[in-house]
Amino acid sequence: MSMEASPGVLPAQDAALGVNEAGHLTVAGCDAVELARRFGTPLYVLDELAVRGRCRAYRREMGAFGSDHGVIYASKAFMAKGICRLMDQEGMHLDVVSGGELFTAMSAAFPPERIFFHGNNKTPEEITYALEAGIGRFVVDNPAELELLEERAARRGVRAAALLRITPGIEAHTHEYVRTGSIDSKFGFTLATGEAMAGVRRALELAHVELKGLHCHIGSQILETEPFALAARVMVDLLAQIRRESGICLGEVDLGGGLGIRYTAEDRPPTVTEFAVATAGTVRRRAEELGLESPRVLVEPGRSIVGEAGVTLYTVGSAKEIPGVRYYLGVDGGMGDNPRPALYGAVYRGLLADRPLAAPEGTVTVAGHCCESGDVLVRDLPLPHARRGEILAVLATGAYNYSMASDYNRFPRPAAVLVREGRARLLIRRETYQDVAALDELPEMQP
Ligand code: LLP
Repeated sequence: MSMEASPGVLPAQDAALGVNEAGHLTVAGCDAVELARRFGTPLYVLDELAVRGRCRAYRREMGAFGSDHGVIYASKAFMAKGICRLMDQEGMHLDVVSGGELFTAMSAAFPPERIFFHGNNKTPEEITYALEAGIGRFVVDNPAELELLEERAARRGVRAAALLRITPGIEAHTHEYVRTGSIDSKFGFTLATGEAMAGVRRALELAHVELKGLHCHIGSQILETEPFALAARVMVDLLAQIRRESGICLGEVDLGGGLGIRYTAEDRPPTVTEFAVATAGTVRRRAEELGLESPRVLVEPGRSIVGEAGVTLYTVGSAKEIPGVRYYLGVDGGMGDNPRPALYGAVYRGLLADRPLAAPEGTVTVAGHCCESGDVLVRDLPLPHARRGEILAVLATGAYNYSMASDYNRFPRPAAVLVREGRARLLIRRETYQDVAALDELPEMQP
C-alpha cells in the first residue's frame, strides 16, 4: 500500500505541510481551505521558506567545494518578478532563455551581471537586448550564434562574456541514461563530431567574444548521481584537451540542472549534497588527476528549487461514476494550469485539503475542466469521498506548472501566492476575463 493510501500520513515534501485544529491542510502555516476561499481556485501556493531553503542548500553544498562556485536558478521552472527578487536576495544567479524572461528579470531589478542567457536560437534582437542590459554570460549554443554574437558585440563595441554549450554525449532521463548515441540533440556543440573543439578554437579567435568556459545540461528529473558525475568528468577532460591544444586554461564549467524531485512515494532523488559531490566533487578530483587548475563550477537547477515547494488548490465540482470502470472527479482547473500530465504522462499526488488525514474510500481520476478527454490531472488517486465545494490539493506543482500554463478554452490563468509563517502574499494576480480577451482586435469586416 502506498504511503498516501494510509490515513494520518502527509507526504514528505519541501513545502511545510501540516494539519491545523480545524483538521485542514496547512502550507507554511496557512490553512489551505482558507487560502482557496480568500484567493479563489485554482490557486498556486508556493512555500517561500522551502524555496529559500533549497537555494541555501545548493549554495552551501556547492560552496563547500569552492568559494567562487555559483548556483544559477533556471527561471523557466517558475518565472515571476517576485521570484527574481527572492533569487537576488538568496545570492543566486539567473538563467533566462528568452527576451521575455530577461525582461521579467530586469523589471524586478535583478543584477544583470548575474544573468546567464540560454537558448538554441536567440534572435539578433534578443542578443542586442541582452548586450544592452549588460548580462553576465551568453551561453552560446551553435556556430552560427557564435558569429552572430561577435557581430552584435562588435557593433556595440563591447566584449561579450560567453560559455559554449557542449553536447557531451550523455543523456539522462528519470531512472536511465545513455552514454553514447545521444548526439541527436538540437542543443549545443557536439563533442563526438569535433564540432565542440572547432567551436572553442573559433571562439578564442574572436575579438568581441570572451570565452570564459563550457556548459552542458544532460536532462531533467534525474534520480541518480552517476550521469552528473560522468558529464562532469567529460567536461573536465575537454578543458584539458583545450589546454593541450591551445595552451588556454578555461576557468568555468557550468554543469546545468536536472536534479529530480519527489512526485510519487517511489521517487528517491539524490540530496543536494550528493548532487554537489557528483558535480563539483568530480570536477575537483578529475582536475587534480589531470594536473589542471580546478575551474569555477556552476550548476543550474530549476525543478529542484521550486518544484516541491508548490501546491495547487482546486475546488471539487461535478463527479461522474461509470460503475466498474472509473470514478471521475471534476475540478476547476486542468491542463491549462498544469499541462504536464497531458504532455508527459506526469504523475502527481493529491489530497483533500478539508480532510487530509481521512482514510481513502476508493480511487478517483481527477478530471480537468478543458474540453478534451486527455485533460486528466491525476489518475487513480486514493481519496476519501469528495464532496462538491471541497478543496483538492495537488502536490509538487511548483515547477513547470505556472510557467507552462495557457488559457486554453479561455479559462483565465490562476493566481499564485507566496506563503510563509501563516501569511500569504500575492505573487501573481489571477487573470480576468478582460485579460483573456485583452489582445483581441475586432477588425472591420464585411459579411
Ligand atoms: N539548464 C538548462 C540549459 C535547461 O535546459 C534546463 C531545463 C535547466 C537548466 C533546468 O533543469 P531542471 O533543474 O529544472 O531539471 N518542461 C519539462 C522540463 C523541461 C526542462 C528544460 N530544461 C517538464 O515539465 O518536465
